[in-house]
Amino acid sequence: MPRSFFITTPLYYVNDKPHIGSAYTTLIADIIAQYHRMTGDDVFFLTGTDEHGQKVQQAAEKNGISPREHCDIYAARFKELWSYFDLSFDDFIRTTEDRHVKVVQAVLMSLFEKGEIYKDTYEGWYSVADELFISDKDYEEGRYRDVRRISETNYYFRMSAYQERLIGYIEAHPDFIRPANRRNEILGFLRQPLKDLCISRPKERLAWGIELPFDKDYVTYVWFDALLNYITAPGYLSDDAKFAAYWPAVHLIGKDILTTHCVYWPTMLMAAGIPLPRTVFAHGWWTSEGQKMSKSLGNFIDLETIRGYCESVGKDAFRYFMAKEGPLFSDSDFSRDRFYQTYNSDLANDFGNLVNRVFKLIDKYFDGRIPEAGEPGEDELAMMEASVQCRETVLAEVEELNVNAVASTVIAYVTSINRYLEKTEPWKLAKTDLAGTGMVLYAALASLRFSAALLYPLLPEKMTEFFRMLNTSEAPGHIVQWQDLKSGTPLGEMKALFPRFDMQLLENS
Ligand code: MSP
Repeated sequence: MPRSFFITTPLYYVNDKPHIGSAYTTLIADIIAQYHRMTGDDVFFLTGTDEHGQKVQQAAEKNGISPREHCDIYAARFKELWSYFDLSFDDFIRTTEDRHVKVVQAVLMSLFEKGEIYKDTYEGWYSVADELFISDKDYEEGRYRDVRRISETNYYFRMSAYQERLIGYIEAHPDFIRPANRRNEILGFLRQPLKDLCISRPKERLAWGIELPFDKDYVTYVWFDALLNYITAPGYLSDDAKFAAYWPAVHLIGKDILTTHCVYWPTMLMAAGIPLPRTVFAHGWWTSEGQKMSKSLGNFIDLETIRGYCESVGKDAFRYFMAKEGPLFSDSDFSRDRFYQTYNSDLANDFGNLVNRVFKLIDKYFDGRIPEAGEPGEDELAMMEASVQCRETVLAEVEELNVNAVASTVIAYVTSINRYLEKTEPWKLAKTDLAGTGMVLYAALASLRFSAALLYPLLPEKMTEFFRMLNTSEAPGHIVQWQDLKSGTPLGEMKALFPRFDMQLLENS
């Protein structure tokens, strides 16, 4: 039986266009999904859009269209970007779909009937911009925008009743909230008394939402609605076998939505009697050229900027950089120079040059046919062993969701292939020992093929091209054996996979 693996991204708001933040989480989720597929896991990768709430209603009003039309336009923009990057998600959920509305209403009804939801009147501060009721302290500290005093009758979820249970759960499950600093942040937050959660908005104030099944004058608070997507998509209440196969999920999110995912969501699940997620992994944020991204500073990495990078050196290079340098454990800076330096050093120099070198030597001495493996010596056996070690390390890093480390691990192996060639010097050896030269070039190419297979989730387009250059019928995306490289096969046409980027071009722009 294959192991099942369910990974999610946040559902992106449709009041803004996609940008580096949304691209980042989705790309790394794709990379993790691809590695799991590589090992034969049965993967369910979910993304989508969060379409209800005040901001969407306001944005639609501003543009003079209906909220639904607005959502259709924005959801299509996300889909377009994901198809540009050829992402491999299995489902794209929109919170306005019927399948989701049904689940939200069924969960609300059952919680209401169990007494987990009650009606009450609140008088206090409300941030219109953040759609949140805030405390007097928050108000005094001025942390929220567009704050008004309101008195309103609403429905509340008894979140406070789950505080102790949640603390106990987090303490007993070290992998539930990751990395550790985020876990500590939540445990710190839970040292304060937890309040009940307001889960409704009166329709007179906000009409664009899912109607409460027990009171038609109200719609559901957007977070209570959106979080439930994670169970709608794998078939909660609609496909028991699918739900049992995939749930619980690994949620990849950004640090700003930690509380909703690590406090609201698990307590909602506890109340509904559903197991908690396997892991909530909250990554940090990208800054840009050393500063917080902002439209006014002109350093905002939007869709056009992303496309610019992709057009200069390829989409794969962008994906690779996201993975290697991304803010997984702490914030990380996107700098243009660093982007091109990483491309030149890892991809153009280390991998690209090595491919050129090995292909040219095979062309020169073996008429472009993969030479015989011969009787591998100590160095060749070491390369073979190192390849297996490299794969084990990569898979362990993927298990830890440590996408940052994966690229470095494989590139270190690629560097060792370069060192092996420097040591064995096949260009000199060819003058005296052609069989020995064949053995060396076979080992180098077998190691390259092995590393290309491991790099595939990071560089899917280019590694597919590389496999085409090997002229094999095998498709990348699978575990390969080092010694399965077929001697005698004529190599395909050599292409420059990663042409060097001329850094001087940057000085003039
Ligand atoms: N709709 C909610 C999520 C609901 S999940 C049930 C939401 N959407 S969002 O579109 O505003 O944000 C999506 C993600 O983008 C968040 O994970 C956020 O952390 C991420 N990012 C936004 N700016 C970012 C950076 N500068 N860097 C990295 N990620 C950032 O929140």
